[in-house]
Amino acid sequence: MTQLIKIIPGNIDYVALKKCADLLKKGKLVVLPTETVYGLGANALDQEAVEGIFKAKGRPPDNPLIVHVSDYEILQMIVKKIPKNAVKLMEKFWPGPLTIIFEKKEIIPRNVTCELNTVAIRMPSNMIAIELIRLSGVPIAAPSANISGNISCTSAADAMDELNGKVDAIIDGGDCDLGLESTVVDVTSSTPHLLRPGAVTLEQLKSVLGKVDIANPDANQPRCPGMKYRHYAPHTPLILAAADDEAGITAKIEKKARQLIEHKKKIAILCSEELSQELSSQVKDNADLLVLCSRKDLRPLAAHIFHEMRRLDKKGYDFMIIGSWPEEGIGRAIMNRLRKAAAKII
Ligand code: TXA
Ligand code: MG
Repeated sequence: MTQLIKIIPGNIDYVALKKCADLLKKGKLVVLPTETVYGLGANALDQEAVEGIFKAKGRPPDNPLIVHVSDYEILQMIVKKIPKNAVKLMEKFWPGPLTIIFEKKEIIPRNVTCELNTVAIRMPSNMIAIELIRLSGVPIAAPSANISGNISCTSAADAMDELNGKVDAIIDGGDCDLGLESTVVDVTSSTPHLLRPGAVTLEQLKSVLGKVDIANPDANQPRCPGMKYRHYAPHTPLILAAADDEAGITAKIEKKARQLIEHKKKIAILCSEELSQELSSQVKDNADLLVLCSRKDLRPLAAHIFHEMRRLDKKGYDFMIIGSWPEEGIGRAIMNRLRKAAAKII
């Protein structure tokens, strides 16, 4: 049985939250809200509890977990050293949507890091998450709270859909502010590497660190093991129409949508305000348009894209279509997720 426990972010019920912290201490699985996506949490020092995460998610055994901490004391307990670059990043971006790779101490069980000698660590800014970790007194391992390969969850209801019966409790702390998983950066070597783009952008990382390389997810030995898996996939095939400019994107979507409409397919188009005005009435009358943002500000798109893909996935569409977005700022993270979610890129 999975208990659903509602906690109001601005007015935390500490009795209820303590109950969740006690569950974590006892080796149970608790889904928690963070500012990025919901996480499937367990005591990171308890090998058996961590095993439970892999089981509940059906996660491949070679994809290591992110460990969440509430303060620097816990951090020092679990990492061998704190490089200068990590200090700079922590000062600027913690607590927040940035995961940093450190050399790990023995205290972290092998299954958390899948035998790697490094560990991924993040201090979340969501108050419920921080307070839960603090009350539990241990670091919390938490991958995104979804069955492996599915879209991450940005609300407790979405997490319930995925994990009901598989975890002990789900904390409902409202919708996630950012909606995409954290940025992952490796500072264990002299040149920092961006392993996964997120809400802390490459531009922001460069402003703090100077040079930052982007890890190649296609390399034989991916530095970020999770990058090699297809991820974030809705069940309804998602078509990604990619072009360098708006005119090119509009033309591709218009053409594809017309073809599908002619073949009597039921389609949804996820788009910007600008694109919704460019499409022909033939397409608008025969497809469902979902306007998610203006091209001038992609943050609402980042915040809602996963939830909207989940919602549309239940509506029996034959296809979903989305255009590409400028690969700068948060757009880089959005495009990273869309490429993995897409059944086809045109
Ligand atoms: O925003 C987030 O990061 C969310 C919330 C819950 O904090 N968590 C999350 O976890 O997205 P997950 O497991 O879905 O993604 C973790 C990523 C994976 O791509 C994994 O391969 C990478 O972090 N990772 C974990 N440990 C690593 C390590 N030691 N070295 C390199 N990459 C690592
Ligand atoms: Mg994930």
